[in-house]
Amino acid sequence: MDQVIERVLLTEVEIQKKVEELGAQISADYEGKDLLVVGILKGALVFMADLIRAIQIPVTIDFMAVSSYGQGATSSGAVRILKDLDRAVEDRHILIVEDIVDTGLTLNYLLDNLRSRGAASVKVCTILDKPNRRTIPIEPDYNGFVIPDEFVVGYGLDYAEKYRHFPYVAILKREVYER
Ligand code: PRP
Ligand code: MN
Ligand code: MG
Repeated sequence: MDQVIERVLLTEVEIQKKVEELGAQISADYEGKDLLVVGILKGALVFMADLIRAIQIPVTIDFMAVSSYGQGATSSGAVRILKDLDRAVEDRHILIVEDIVDTGLTLNYLLDNLRSRGAASVKVCTILDKPNRRTIPIEPDYNGFVIPDEFVVGYGLDYAEKYRHFPYVAILKREVYER
């Protein structure tokens, strides 16, 4: 167990089981449709890689990189596009893939942004949801786990760009982000 971890919140096995369920549900819902899965870098990297392999219909993928947190532990409030989609999305069915919905700020920005480009539909799949933290009333269409308001890392989630590679989701020790 890593020194910075208070405790594991979601194990690798629990996460994989949930990803399979989400993949099956998405496959059923988008059967016969032209689905574009958009991963939001960097946090969604790990979940995206697992989710697309659990989806049993043809998909294409693209990525956007946005950042709102910078180096700190709390949101600065500003969303920046660091990398845009490679192609136009007019008339495409878009599924945004996120690692976590926290305040809802990032997602709200992305939904507005992608809908304004004339997508046929825009939905959201996140592996983690912290509804207690929401400042904008917005809900993911597909969610893996509702989690408490603890500082979590791993499975793509970082603290100051670290710990994304942990295969589980864990609560970070207070002393790590308060020092
Ligand atoms: C994190 C996370 C989500 C967003 C959620 O990204 O990956 O994208 O914040 O927070 P919100 O609901 O309050 O907007 P971050 O900006 O830290 O960038 P990263 O994915 O590169 O870590
Ligand atoms: Mn992110
Ligand atoms: Mg981050």
